[in-house]
Amino acid sequence: MDKVKLGIIGLGRLGRNHAINIHYKISNAELTAICSAVQEELDDIKIEMNPDYATLDYMGLLSIEELDGVVIASNSAFHCEMICNAAKAGIKNIFCEKPLGMTLEEIDLIKEIVERYQVNIFQIGFNRRFDKSLIKMKEQVDKGFIGKPILIKMVNRDPASMAEYIIKFSPTSGGLVFDMLTHDYDLARWLIGSDAGIIFGIGGVFAYEGLREINDIDNCTISIEFKNGVMGLMETSRSCTYGYHVEIEIYGTEGSLRMGTLPNKDKVVSFNKDGASIECIEWFFEFWEPTFEAEIQHFANCIQSNTQPIVGLIDGYKAVQWAFSAKEAVDKRTVIKMK
Ligand code: NAI
Repeated sequence: MDKVKLGIIGLGRLGRNHAINIHYKISNAELTAICSAVQEELDDIKIEMNPDYATLDYMGLLSIEELDGVVIASNSAFHCEMICNAAKAGIKNIFCEKPLGMTLEEIDLIKEIVERYQVNIFQIGFNRRFDKSLIKMKEQVDKGFIGKPILIKMVNRDPASMAEYIIKFSPTSGGLVFDMLTHDYDLARWLIGSDAGIIFGIGGVFAYEGLREINDIDNCTISIEFKNGVMGLMETSRSCTYGYHVEIEIYGTEGSLRMGTLPNKDKVVSFNKDGASIECIEWFFEFWEPTFEAEIQHFANCIQSNTQPIVGLIDGYKAVQWAFSAKEAVDKRTVIKMK
């Protein structure tokens, strides 16, 4: 098959990154069409990458017959509408950024439409599944290196330096639990091979008083009992003073696997009269950079070889479903039993 012809909707923070990867790094794909509601973003990429089509109207992009697939990287509030319209327009291969949808009604509708219009490949943007360290951890768990898994612990801290920027998006991102922890939940259920059974959570406003007015929080912890009996502890924060920090540990009867224990920016440790120090990672792009390329490479490969992606519709669906239960657990300080 010739190069996979991809169209992209949304050229903001993430969309621009996907466009760059498709154009410069993914050798079996071609950036054929671009769309953004923002003229400057469109002009920028058009001048630099010269795709065949550039439009402000996403329905126009969906009608381009030669496209093999579409990447949706618009704001989360548009995911449902765009996925459904793409399926109805006959697009057979869709990649969509997380979250799949913003409400339980939306994800039900997406599932129904994607099935009804026989979308062939549907990939959701859980990029962390493409991280080499996590893939190795998963292999080690599956090989029995840690024996029987007992506990999965996850730390997910956004830097305080980005708080003002992130909080601006809080009213439309779904808030702390929905926006941040869906990544952790997806990873946890993949790493230990089970869905959550019981959830309890607590959280609050510790750092940014303004969040109270918009019914959001800046720190929380969630305890989970997975259906296979493994325990889960998740902690997330918007107020990490030393940078961006993701740490994951899976502890079992025979040992432990960890990644990200120190959020090193590089391999240098500096020593002087005050002791030893490392520089920390500042932001998520730095930490997860290779995974954004890898996930779109995977999407192109799946289209070319007509194989199903490793992370799809049902994973996106379950993460949103879980997030609503987790948010309820935190909001009401109650235990939620999932079906
Ligand atoms: P952004 O605000 O920087 O960009 C949004 C883009 O969507 C803009 O180019 C805008 O023009 C376009 N857009 C919105 N409505 C449109 C419409 N009706 N027609 C055409 N274009 C439209 O947003 P950002 O930060 O790039 O986030 C995009 C998505 O990526 C969100 O769903 C977010 O949750 C997800 N995301 C995922 C991350 C990950 O780690 N996987 C990290 C950050 C964001």
